[in-house]
Order: sequence, then structure tokens, then C-alpha cells
Amino acid sequence: MISIDLSGKTILITGAMGAIAEHMVVRLAAAGAKLVLLDLKPAREAASKLEEWKVPAESYVYYSLDVTDSATLTRVVDTAFDRCPMMDTVLGHAGGCGLHPFASTTEAEFERIFRFNFFAQTYLARAVFAQWIARKIPGHLIFTSSYVARVPHTLIPSYASAKAALENFARCMALEYVSSGIRVNVISPGNVAAGSSLKVFEEDPAYREFVLRVSLGKRNSPESIAGAFVFLCSPLASEINGQILSADYGSGIGNRL
Ligand SMILES: NC(=O)c1ccc[n+]([C@@H]2O[C@H](COP(=O)([O-])OP(=O)(O)OC[C@H]3O[C@@H](n4cnc5c(N)ncnc54)[C@H](O)[C@@H]3O)[C@@H](O)[C@H]2O)c1
Repeated sequence: MISIDLSGKTILITGAMGAIAEHMVVRLAAAGAKLVLLDLKPAREAASKLEEWKVPAESYVYYSLDVTDSATLTRVVDTAFDRCPMMDTVLGHAGGCGLHPFASTTEAEFERIFRFNFFAQTYLARAVFAQWIARKIPGHLIFTSSYVARVPHTLIPSYASAKAALENFARCMALEYVSSGIRVNVISPGNVAAGSSLKVFEEDPAYREFVLRVSLGKRNSPESIAGAFVFLCSPLASEINGQILSADYGSGIGNRL
């Protein structure tokens, strides 16, 4: 029997209070990891959610912040490393959007969505790499992408382009930092029956029809995405670097004629 034991490990997660993150937080904590949780939600609201999720208070620390504010993000990452100096795994998970067709989306809104889904991840990478290099930690940074990075999608052009940029950025970073022992990987879910996409899926028939067609009628569960994270955070995955791990039933293969 293989069981995954993450005790002794500290893992930072951005967007930690979201719908997929709920399952990641619960499973990573159950595997014994200590968690550093970052999210826009106020600390009190987060604490009551985490209690609802039955995550023991001693297994996490929480910081409320906006990940698109690079100065604050860097300060919080530095504080988290002061508190947890051996932290070697970071999940750049915050992201998402509503529907935003190009024609009816303002330039400012288009850029806001791109900044949240791409540039904020580069701010995180910069802050974390600086700590790992200074502390000589062979850390592991894992970004959350989406199958839409590779399958052109209707109605979400800024988000899909940001995720495509993110996947390429991850592979560039995997190459640039390989000599420091730092690894960079990506988990790329298909359409998940949870979170921001759930409302859109339920309310927009065109989006629903598109999703079911490209994903062969299957949507992913947040539990299966969490499972992929537990695996990639574990010693079983210790030699995986620069990869896009698609947990998507094959939606990201594309070529649906
Ligand atoms: N839900 C899906 O179908 C799906 C599919 C593929 C990929 N993904 C990706 O998975 C990740 C999580 O998606 P989800 O649907 O669970 O998200 P969600 O909308 O349920 O949660 C997002 C979380 O991010 C937080 N957040 C929002 N703006 C923030 C900011 N500026 N700074 C810090 N935190 C902020 C929110 O408070 C929330 O807790 C995202 O990267 C998303 O792109 C989701």
C-alpha cells in the first residue's frame, strides 16, 4: 500500500479559500502538511470557513491579501518564510474570471483579469525564488492553470491567454532555476464543477454547450484536482520538473472536430 505522508512539510497556497482550494487544503492538512494560506477574504471569515472544513487551527497560518499587489505579496511571503523557514512548496493557485467577451470587455477589465491570472503569479514567483535562493532551499513552485490555456475557448479571452502565458512562464522558470534545484510545475484542471465556472456553467447555455462538447461530456471534481496536488507535493513526484499535469479527462488535448 502506498500512503502519502506530508508531515514536516510546509506548503503555501494562494487563493486558499476558493472552491477547489477547499479540497486541497483539507487533503494536504490531512496528509500532515502545515499550511500557509493566502486569500483576499478577511481573516475572520477564513477562520470560520476553515473551522467548517474541519481544518485544525494548529495546522495553518492565514494572511489576508490581494495577490495583485506585488509589494504586499512580497512582504507577506517574507513574513511567512520568517515564520516557516523551511517552507519548500508553494502553490500559485489564485485565479479565475467571469465571462468577458472581447467586444464588450473594457481595456481596464481585460488587463485586470490578465494581471490576476498571470502577473500576480510572476510576483509570487519572484518573492519565493528570492527566499529559496537566499536560504538554499530546493523548492517546488506549482501553478494552477486550466485546459483553456491550450484549447481556445469562447467568452474568456483574457483568462485563457493569461493561463497560456502562465504555462509557458512555468517552463521558462523550470529551465532558469534548474541549477538551483528549484522545480516549477503546473496542474491544469479541466472544467471543474465548482467555483467561479459553476455559476457560469449553470447560467450560460452557450458556455455549457461548449464545455460539454470539448470535455466529452465530463467535468472534473474538485476532489480529483486536490488529489493531483497531493501527488505533486509528495516525494513520489520529486523528479518531475517543467511539466503541465493535466487533470482534465483529456479536454486539453484539443482537436475536437
Ligand atoms: N473552477 C474551474 O472550473 C477551474 C478550471 C480550471 C482551472 N481553474 C483554476 O483553479 C483555480 C481556483 O479556481 P476556483 O474556481 O476554485 O476559484 P474560486 O473562484 O472558487 O476561488 C478563488 C479564490 O481566490 C480568492 N481571490 C480572488 N481574488 C483574489 C486576489 N486578488 N488576491 C487573493 N485572493 C483572491 C477568492 O477570495 C477565492 O477564495 C484558479 O486558478 C482557476 O483559474 C478553475
